[in-house]
Amino acid sequence: MRAATYLAAMAAAGGALCASAASLSERNNNGNNNNAAATTDTPWPKIPAYTPAKTGQYDGIVRPKTHYAGLTHEGKKLDGPLRLANVGDTVTVDYARDVAGKPTFKIASFDGPYAQIEVKYTEQLAALSDKRSDGPFAFANALANTFRVETFNVTQPGDLTSYFIQGSQRWQSIRLVHGSNLLIDSVGFKPTTDKSPLLSKKGYFASSDKTESDIWALAFRTQQLTCYAPHTQTTTWDIDSHGAYIRGQKPASSTAAINYQNYTLEFDAKIDYGGLGWRLDGQIDAIQANGPYLVLNSNYPEGSFANYDRQLVPPNTLVLGTGFSLQNQTSLPGYVLDRFPIDFDITEKEWHRIKSVSHGEGAYTIFVEDRQVAKFNVTGYGYALPNPFIPGGTMRGFALGGWQDTAAWYKDVEITSNVDGKKLYSNPLTDKESVPLEFGVEGNTDFVCSDAGKRDRFSWLGDRLISSRAIAVATGEFDYVVGPMEWQLSKQAASGAVPINTLFGPVDDTGISVRTGNVAPLLLDYMFDFLQEVDDYWMRTGDDEFIRKRFEDLRAGCGFALSQAVDPETQLFQGLGQKGGLTATTGSVVLGLEAIARMADFVGEPRLASQYRTQANVTRSAMARLLYNDQVGSFVNAVGSKDFHLMDITFGQLADVGTDEQRRSAFLQLAKLKVPAGYKNGTFYDGFQIVVDPYFVSFTLDALAQRGETELAQQLVHDTWAPMVAESVNSTGALWEYVSDDGSYPGLEFFTAQSHFWGSGATVWLTEYSLGVRPTAKAFTEFAFAPMRGLKTQWNHGRVPTPHGIISAAWGKRKEDGKLVMELDAPKGTTGTIVPPLGTDVKFNVVAGRGAVEQTEDGKFRVKGGRGAVRIVQA
Ligand SMILES: *[C@@H]1O[C@H](CO)[C@@H](O)[C@H](O)[C@H]1NC(C)=O
Ligand SMILES: *[C@@H]1O[C@H](CO)[C@@H](O)[C@H](O)[C@H]1NC(C)=O
Ligand SMILES: *[C@@H]1O[C@H](CO)[C@@H](O)[C@H](O)[C@H]1NC(C)=O
Ligand SMILES: *[C@@H]1O[C@H](CO)[C@@H](O)[C@H](O)[C@H]1NC(C)=O
Ligand SMILES: *[C@@H]1O[C@H](CO)[C@@H](O)[C@H](O)[C@H]1NC(C)=O
Ligand SMILES: *[C@@H]1O[C@H](CO)[C@@H](O)[C@H](O)[C@H]1NC(C)=O
Ligand SMILES: *[C@@H]1O[C@H](CO)[C@@H](O)[C@H](O)[C@H]1NC(C)=O
Repeated sequence: MRAATYLAAMAAAGGALCASAASLSERNNNGNNNNAAATTDTPWPKIPAYTPAKTGQYDGIVRPKTHYAGLTHEGKKLDGPLRLANVGDTVTVDYARDVAGKPTFKIASFDGPYAQIEVKYTEQLAALSDKRSDGPFAFANALANTFRVETFNVTQPGDLTSYFIQGSQRWQSIRLVHGSNLLIDSVGFKPTTDKSPLLSKKGYFASSDKTESDIWALAFRTQQLTCYAPHTQTTTWDIDSHGAYIRGQKPASSTAAINYQNYTLEFDAKIDYGGLGWRLDGQIDAIQANGPYLVLNSNYPEGSFANYDRQLVPPNTLVLGTGFSLQNQTSLPGYVLDRFPIDFDITEKEWHRIKSVSHGEGAYTIFVEDRQVAKFNVTGYGYALPNPFIPGGTMRGFALGGWQDTAAWYKDVEITSNVDGKKLYSNPLTDKESVPLEFGVEGNTDFVCSDAGKRDRFSWLGDRLISSRAIAVATGEFDYVVGPMEWQLSKQAASGAVPINTLFGPVDDTGISVRTGNVAPLLLDYMFDFLQEVDDYWMRTGDDEFIRKRFEDLRAGCGFALSQAVDPETQLFQGLGQKGGLTATTGSVVLGLEAIARMADFVGEPRLASQYRTQANVTRSAMARLLYNDQVGSFVNAVGSKDFHLMDITFGQLADVGTDEQRRSAFLQLAKLKVPAGYKNGTFYDGFQIVVDPYFVSFTLDALAQRGETELAQQLVHDTWAPMVAESVNSTGALWEYVSDDGSYPGLEFFTAQSHFWGSGATVWLTEYSLGVRPTAKAFTEFAFAPMRGLKTQWNHGRVPTPHGIISAAWGKRKEDGKLVMELDAPKGTTGTIVPPLGTDVKFNVVAGRGAVEQTEDGKFRVKGGRGAVRIVQA
């Protein structure tokens, strides 16, 4: 989620080396040693062969690397069965990198009738000491466990598997909370994501600099943790004739009962264990969470989970909360407003009639079996009022789902008007087909990508601009590019709005209109990012069919965003009620319009293309006039401002705004943002905790490549991404969402996702500008093999997937005389241009593949694909 990006108003969205963890390249490259000796004729080792995975080859249970006795990552490693003798005994489990799936345990034996274990999951080791672990992640009801702590009732030996997916973690702890002498033969995850090794992917890259090889591989692993094949992310509700069986999770919203006033909502509920929960008048899918969140706890009979937090959720009590949860998690605030003790037993395994009366103006009365248990005014507490800086979320409704480690059946929901007794809504919750669609809890049916493995498990429209390119170079698995694009368009509203975020599973037609409509006014710049993503995909694959089929939808989406986002006075992007424009997003508007103009030409709409280009030109000129500050010598973040953001400078370049002299000057200002881990995001955050955002830095890398700033670019790759591959308790084998300014840890508390795909720009840069292979015409019919000049690397080699097959390329300096050697093997249907990074006066000889190559007057070499490898050596 880049929600925080341009919204200052929104809160910002250790230890010793783990000796046993294999090196990252080993873990990611399946043991391929990319530091193997160079061969005799070439300064680089042989490029390892692409070895596609066989169906099912890598589907086995993910097992940990190490277990430790106690809450520790050091000391005695355990082999053989894990023994938890007494309540309080704990083992710590390290998978050495992020893994995903349904937690599973093979139970050997235990004393007495049953035992209970509390299991925590986390990407950050330190969170194992927190009672919430690194969660909860209550932003989305997201086909996963909202909570990062889960308790299991162990009643028999054999397999014990969680119902819920845990989206990504490296660490796990298991603590006995009831019983004795529990022996666990093995623990692991039944995988819900692809976990095949790097060599089974079409893309590849390695370099004489091992850090760069490891950095490149972060993207393929992150793709596996954040992109999901159809039917891998499973539904979270079970529906049968008894109603909906719902385990403790963020309440899921109905979209069929919107904005009722002065009503009564009733349902029957049978607690299986622990309690039940529901929400009233909550914003659906929005970045706001107001309205009461009600958690009704049972009397916790004998056999209840021994670790229930009796302070947070006491027995026989109705807890009133608001915000995202009853607990805080960084930019997802949660509030407990009140606790109402109940003077009769809330029994388990029996049906209760729960009645909530919404009187209006914040006032509610709650009844259980017609006995009043609470009366309150949720607004009166003064918390979690709608954030005025975040529009949308105007559609509100009810939602169902209980607190952590509970489960209940719900059925026969009815809403009636208090004014005239009219029935407004009713649903028995027994229909397997319609209920999951209405509440948005259906499993994924298509290819989708999430923002991160563990968190913000929504499909975000704008965050994939970088990661879709990383997929293209790292794996060539374009299903994960076009699939999510189709998915987003399948949820387009009649207004033209393409949802900025959407659920992984299908919803009904009402759901589309309500959910998309509720997020439509937010982050309008995402549509322009999306258009660039589509254009990039089209350029790489030549998928003309997609453009033909989807042009009208893209046009409608663009029209909607334009009408809302471009200020008719200034012609600049105006975000969220802020007049005067925002520089980076204005740059994205220009680029998005130019992208859709190319598509308009292609589908035979030249007039439309010209209109898009005119708007792009007008906006670009306005940006040059209003958002470049001569005194500062840079693009600034708003009209009349002296402050600038990293993205202002970056998008001035990418969108080709102003004069080259102005852009050069702006780049000189980058030095003012320099921190050890790269660049901080702006001049205006002094006094805040500084984090480096690899998403922003990814765009900056692109801009540095455009400007031929090799040294700055290569340094930036190391500064921002090397912390992610350094072996420590914090490495996950995947990309981090944020990096601390000194590069010593992942940026934003436990919230920080450590398998987050948005900042995968280093992988793209390494393939396109360090190896140097990038398309220059649609579908790679023409491409460049043009490494940047002045790289510090001795050699680079790799494979680049194209629709015609794989391009293999390598370059390096000979040990004996330092002469540059370059080799290219291109597939039939492509023509590559080798541009040696040494200047046109340096001569080269063709030493292999003469028949496939032709030297041009300006010192370049044109290589016809399909005729074998061509090698040139500096004379
Ligand atoms: C790991 O991250 C934590 C913060 O989450 C930090 O305090 C610690 O220093 C880091 N440890 C290492 C070895 O990088
Ligand atoms: C755990 O299992 C025991 C034995 O079957 C049972 O009495 C108890 O109610 C169960 N607890 C939960 C929370 O399911
Ligand atoms: C969450 O943080 C807010 C702001 O700091 C605070 O008012 C609120 O009480 C916290 N909620 C909980 C459940 O601790
Ligand atoms: C609830 O509290 C809010 C804020 O104090 C107030 O505006 C509103 O009138 C109250 N509602 C009722 C029904 O008293
Ligand atoms: C809700 O309806 C009741 C019954 O008709 C009425 O007395 C009450 O004033 C209404 N409340 C609001 C806020 O309109
Ligand atoms: C946009 O500007 C470019 C560069 O100045 C110019 O070549 C082009 O004709 C303009 N296009 C339109 C449609 O105004
Ligand atoms: C920029 O960085 C500051 C400080 O690290 C952070 O608080 C803020 O949320 C970031 N802002 C944006 C727009 O990314």
